[in-house]
Amino acid sequence: MIDYHCHLLPGIDDGPAAMDESLEMAAALHQAGFRTIYCTPHLLKGHYDVDNKAVLSALSELRKRLSDERIDVDILPGREYYLDEFLGHYLKHPMLMGKTKYIMVEIPNYAPAGYVKEACFRIKCGGFIPMIAHPERCRLFAANHKHKPSFFSFGAKRKISEATAKKIELISYLKNIGCAFQGNLGSFYAIYGPDVQRTANYLKDHKIYTHYGTDAHSLKSINLIAKRAKDEKRKLKIEA
Ligand SMILES: [Fe+2]
Repeated sequence: MIDYHCHLLPGIDDGPAAMDESLEMAAALHQAGFRTIYCTPHLLKGHYDVDNKAVLSALSELRKRLSDERIDVDILPGREYYLDEFLGHYLKHPMLMGKTKYIMVEIPNYAPAGYVKEACFRIKCGGFIPMIAHPERCRLFAANHKHKPSFFSFGAKRKISEATAKKIELISYLKNIGCAFQGNLGSFYAIYGPDVQRTANYLKDHKIYTHYGTDAHSLKSINLIAKRAKDEKRKLKIEA
C-alpha cells in the first residue's frame, strides 16, 4: 500500500520532533502494510515554511536511518502546500510528489470557491496536477446533513439548495480539469468527527477520491487509525 500523505520527516513541521519518532512511525506504517510513503510536510508561510532543500536533506537522512534499522519502506518527497495568496510564489519552484506531476494542496476553510478553481486551473496550466488533500475536512465540500441522499445526486429531480448546487459544481469543475483527490483514512473512522466521516463516505461512494493517505503526524495518530480499523473489523480498499 502507498501512503500519499504523511508528516514523517523529523523537525520540519508539526510532525515528529526527532528522528527516533520518525523511525517508530515508519515501523508502525510498515506493520500496517504500507511500503511506500510520501513525506508531505506543510508549507504554510509564517508557520511551517522550511525550504525544499531542507526537506530533501531530512528525507535523505531518514532514508539512510531506515536502511540502517532495516525498516523496509520507500520514502518519497512531497509537500502539502496551503492554497493561499503565497502559493504562486512557492510554486515557482514546486516540490512534486516524487516523480509524478502531482502537487498536493490543502484548501483553507475560508477560501472562496472561485479562488480555489482559479488556483487549481493555474497549476494545471503550468503542466502539473493539483492533488487536493483531505477535501472531506474542507467546508467547501461538506455534505449536506439535512438532505443526505441529494448531495451528489447530479440528476436528482428533487430540488436542492443553492449551497449544495455550488458544492456539486465545484467538485465537477475540479474533476473535469483533472484534479486528484486524496482522502484521509482516519476520516472514515470518525477521527475528525461524524460530519467529516459523512462527507468522506459520500466522496468515496461517488468515486471522487483518487488517492488515500494517513496524514499521520505522530506514532499516536497511526496507532489510533490502526485501532479504529481493527475495532470496526473492516479494511479500506486503498488504490495504489
Ligand atoms: Fe497533512
